[in-house]
Amino acid sequence: MTEISIRKAEKKDLPAIQRLLSTYFLDMEDLEPEDFVLAEKEGKVIGCAALIRDTLNEKTFLELHSIAVHPNLRGKGIGTRLMEYLINNIDSPETPGVQVCELYVRTTAPVFFEKLGFITLQDAEKLLIWEDCRKCEHFEKCAQHAMKYFRVS
Ligand SMILES: CC(C)(COP(=O)(O)OP(=O)(O)OC[C@H]1O[C@@H](n2cnc3c(N)ncnc32)[C@H](O)[C@@H]1OP(=O)(O)O)[C@@H](O)C(=O)NCCC(=O)NCCS
Repeated sequence: MTEISIRKAEKKDLPAIQRLLSTYFLDMEDLEPEDFVLAEKEGKVIGCAALIRDTLNEKTFLELHSIAVHPNLRGKGIGTRLMEYLINNIDSPETPGVQVCELYVRTTAPVFFEKLGFITLQDAEKLLIWEDCRKCEHFEKCAQHAMKYFRVS
């Protein structure tokens, strides 16, 4: 397989990120291109994932958004590489330089995240963390699993 590189995205990557996300009817939400990391093959963007900082009770936490791999290249470890890059480059939001990694995701692909060490959160925890879930009329039949990854190194 041709070499695949992982790098941080820049402003100029916006159209490529939008194109990839649109394959899965995903959009950028309120994200900036600079929030993303990309997987690239022969100069083409073939994977993306974004990490954002959010706040809960004055505590900052990190949430993964918009992970996608080109449909022809799924199941080849590219999503795992994007996640490993993000996890290995996280500094604690509260103590820069200390590698306490706590990462949340709401996802329709729980098995992928389980394989990376994420654990599923109960609905009660989901409601504590996400204000939009508390307000959502579809909460009871939501297809998104809330999951958490935690590591101290
Ligand atoms: C989810 C996604 C990013 C995973 O990327 P990927 O490059 O295909 O994942 P990997 O090849 O690194 O897979 C790692 C493992 O997870 C499994 N896996 C990946 N996606 C899976 C899914 N949707 N359901 C179940 N298992 C999945 C793989 O089979 C693999 O298992 P193995 O290690 O036993 O072989 C990719 O499938 C994708 O773009 N899906 C569509 C968009 C999407 O659903 N995004 C998530 C929204 S939060």
